[in-house]
Amino acid sequence: MVIVEGRDVFVYDLEGKRYLDFWAGIATVNMGHGNPKVQEAVRRQMDRLVHIASHAYYTVPPLNLAKRLAEIAPFDSCKSVFCTSGSEAIEVSVKIARRFTRKHDILSLYGSYHGRTYAAQTVGSTPGCYGKSYVVGPYLLGFVHVPTPYCYRCSLGYEYPSCNLQCVKILEDLINFATTREVAAYIAEPILGVGGIVTPPNEYFREVKKVLDRYGILMVLDEVQTGLGRTGKIWGSETYNVKPDMIVLGKALGNGWPISAVLTRGEVGDSLEVGDFFATWGAHPVMCAAAEATVDYLLRFRLWENAERMGSLMLKGLKEFEERFEFVGEVRGKGLMVGVEIVKTKRGKEPDSEATVKIREGLAKNGLLVGLGGWWGNVLRIQPPLTIKREHVEEALNIFEKTFKEFEGL
Ligand SMILES: Cc1ncc(COP(=O)(O)O)c(C=O)c1O
Repeated sequence: MVIVEGRDVFVYDLEGKRYLDFWAGIATVNMGHGNPKVQEAVRRQMDRLVHIASHAYYTVPPLNLAKRLAEIAPFDSCKSVFCTSGSEAIEVSVKIARRFTRKHDILSLYGSYHGRTYAAQTVGSTPGCYGKSYVVGPYLLGFVHVPTPYCYRCSLGYEYPSCNLQCVKILEDLINFATTREVAAYIAEPILGVGGIVTPPNEYFREVKKVLDRYGILMVLDEVQTGLGRTGKIWGSETYNVKPDMIVLGKALGNGWPISAVLTRGEVGDSLEVGDFFATWGAHPVMCAAAEATVDYLLRFRLWENAERMGSLMLKGLKEFEERFEFVGEVRGKGLMVGVEIVKTKRGKEPDSEATVKIREGLAKNGLLVGLGGWWGNVLRIQPPLTIKREHVEEALNIFEKTFKEFEGL
């Protein structure tokens, strides 16, 4: 399949076939393919100034973008650093955390994904094809992974909610027994994206924050996938009602144009020193203009509210399939970040990655693009543009039903 064109929630291949795009360039084109306001802002900036190295001179677009983000960020005062990819922003967040706390160790979740540069890949621990490789290693020292609140497959063998969040209790043990006790930060995705739309219980991050505060550890939320409206609020942290110390943004920030950011509460960001970070493309004027237009569009149309409404319809429709089809193990998510976990049997919960690939191919054949993820490669990821309408959700649900029936009949 070769994609040649994109218009809002649809993309078209070389043969002219139309697909409903429910992955949005990996949760990126949140304002729709070819969003006219974003494209216009890019064109305007291109004609004015493309590049001068914004980490060497001040330019206007990054200043405007920083102001705009500060207006909506969940911090009293907000500092921003702009880079190009999510991985790069994760690297910067680790440096800021270490500078601010003057401590080294970093905690992160089992099976999380934070990118592929060395620190980003060390923070992550996704198994399978996204995993670490002996030959490419060694990775970095000072990173400790802690259990993820993946309640469908609890690593600790508990059932939610009677577990009383043992994963948070173990986090405290690990701080004491598995680190140097000089821990700078805990880095987590509010909802694990590549890891399979693993959706922690509502109170999880608030409970984690209490532990982190006791030990003077910063909470860094990697909102590369959850940020800017996807989970039904502007921030994933807002969905979980927790105040982090830092937020990492990427993907959706530029609606397809490459830009990422680290946002921090003021004094945390102030600790970064000249020389800690520099990038030729950092705070690129054209990308910052794209990002400002993206954020404006999000705010103007309050698209996080649409994500909440359309996400509920999607979740409800797919939950019905969870009851009807033996191979649909669990449907979960928040807003327009929904996962469908495919298993051999409901009772045994054996991950079925082969079936997942076949179903995904069937969906594409029937005109619907979705993503693939999960620790065992058995989760379909549904992350469409936040501009989708009820008719698109209905069309997608019909294609799911048709494809599931076809798969059942194989
Ligand atoms: C949560 C999260 N963090 C970081 C990254 C890395 O972003 P990039 O691929 O832009 O380096 C990704 C990419 O999928 C991601 O999903």
